[in-house]
Amino acid sequence: MEVIVLAAGQGKRMRSNLPKVLQPIAGRPLLGHVLDTARELSARRICMVYGHGGEAVPAAFSGDDLAWVKQEPQLGTGHAVQQALPLLDDGEMALVLYGDVPLITAATLRRLLAAAGEGVAVLTVELDDPHGYGRIIRDGAGRVAAIVEEKDATPGQRGVREVNTGIIAAPVGALRRWLAQVRNDNAQGEYYLTDIVGLAVADGVPVATASPAHVWETLGVNSKAQLAELERIHQRDIAERLMTEGVTLIDPSRIDVRGTLVCGRDVEIDVNCVFEGRVELGDGVRIGANCVLRNARIGARSRLLPFSHVEDTEAGEACQIGPYSRTRPGTVLGADVHLGNFVEVKNSQIADHSKANHLAYVGDATIGSRVNIGAGTITCNYDGAHKHRTVIEDDVFIGSDTQLVAPVTVGRGATLGAGTTLTRDAPADELTLSRARQVTVSGWKRPQKKKPAS
Ligand code: UD1
Ligand code: MG
Repeated sequence: MEVIVLAAGQGKRMRSNLPKVLQPIAGRPLLGHVLDTARELSARRICMVYGHGGEAVPAAFSGDDLAWVKQEPQLGTGHAVQQALPLLDDGEMALVLYGDVPLITAATLRRLLAAAGEGVAVLTVELDDPHGYGRIIRDGAGRVAAIVEEKDATPGQRGVREVNTGIIAAPVGALRRWLAQVRNDNAQGEYYLTDIVGLAVADGVPVATASPAHVWETLGVNSKAQLAELERIHQRDIAERLMTEGVTLIDPSRIDVRGTLVCGRDVEIDVNCVFEGRVELGDGVRIGANCVLRNARIGARSRLLPFSHVEDTEAGEACQIGPYSRTRPGTVLGADVHLGNFVEVKNSQIADHSKANHLAYVGDATIGSRVNIGAGTITCNYDGAHKHRTVIEDDVFIGSDTQLVAPVTVGRGATLGAGTTLTRDAPADELTLSRARQVTVSGWKRPQKKKPAS
């Protein structure tokens, strides 16, 4: 099978410098969604017809299976398909998709292809308000006879509620023959792809129809309002799928998945969480409200408390992260690690049962097991030119408000006194501290404000 994606149209109503088909839904360009679906169908090749938006459109995608064809000027959908024809093999079926209809599913397209067999099939829907769409005209026996565009339709034809979604399947060889005969003597002066339907019927080729599982699969995007509407529909669909898999969503209308979210059993997700890239949540994981996770793997029974931001992070089992924690790329946590409020971790490994419960920065550090990091502890990993590592071995206790000036190592079982600025390695099992001795100046008096002379 050959797939042709029509993506040359303008999208004026977006009022954006970003080409319409590059506008995102769930963080991925509209055209990317269509591409993903086309790839699910294992097409021989995917021909992308582009024009408006220029080279930014092909530059946004890659793949050996893609062929880009520029349509300039844009003389209609039939003209657009014609641009792809030189690349297509006559023995194959062609499936025409729209680059601005992102939510079409592979299941629906498979049904359409099955309905087509070796002939033509049109994906149609019944709309209460068919205004603006091409109408499906049937003969007395209910067979498809033609598609008539709104602007060319008679008042009687405009009453038809079954419309063309634009998605059509046809054999390449016949498509080539029919498109050569299509003329532009119509209300819009365009070469209509839809005219092939009448030509197929005249050729004695049967034209079948199929309908999508959901009407929303066929909705197009022309404005920011429609973009937002489709985003919500898409997110609702993802939420339904997660719930079918057994995930508890406190409010399915308040979750955003912009990538792939894989959940184990008995996962619970509170409101307003955003998942980006690939996120895997193990069995029994609970995500508190307002968390953002991007490319993360969270081990079984771990908890994220509200307002945590977790990126390129791996966490073991039974960890507790947040509220208000931030883990940045390269964070690897063992089991039962606790990170509390206002703790930032970057490019660091923290082994089992270690804790940093309050106000800390852990960057470029290797931290052993059962380490306690006191409030206000900071790894000074950056000297203005280079990053250096801090190594904290097992069973270390770091007192509050400590600065570890890297590169530095704290030996196993060592204790650092509160307020220490550690610039040299601390030996194992000893107390190390750097602190001015406390003195009391007895009899000292605070200065008094002088009374103004009266
Ligand atoms: C088209 C169909 C109509 C159908 C409707 C569904 C035709 C003649 N009409 O109408 O029957 O009900 O879609 O939405 O096919 N495009 C190009 N190059 C062009 C023209 C269009 O690539 O020269 C692309 C557009 O970017 C868009 C798609 O084709 O993705 C449809 O174009 P649009 O102008 O929206 O067609 P409609 O007039 O809405
Ligand atoms: Mg349209």
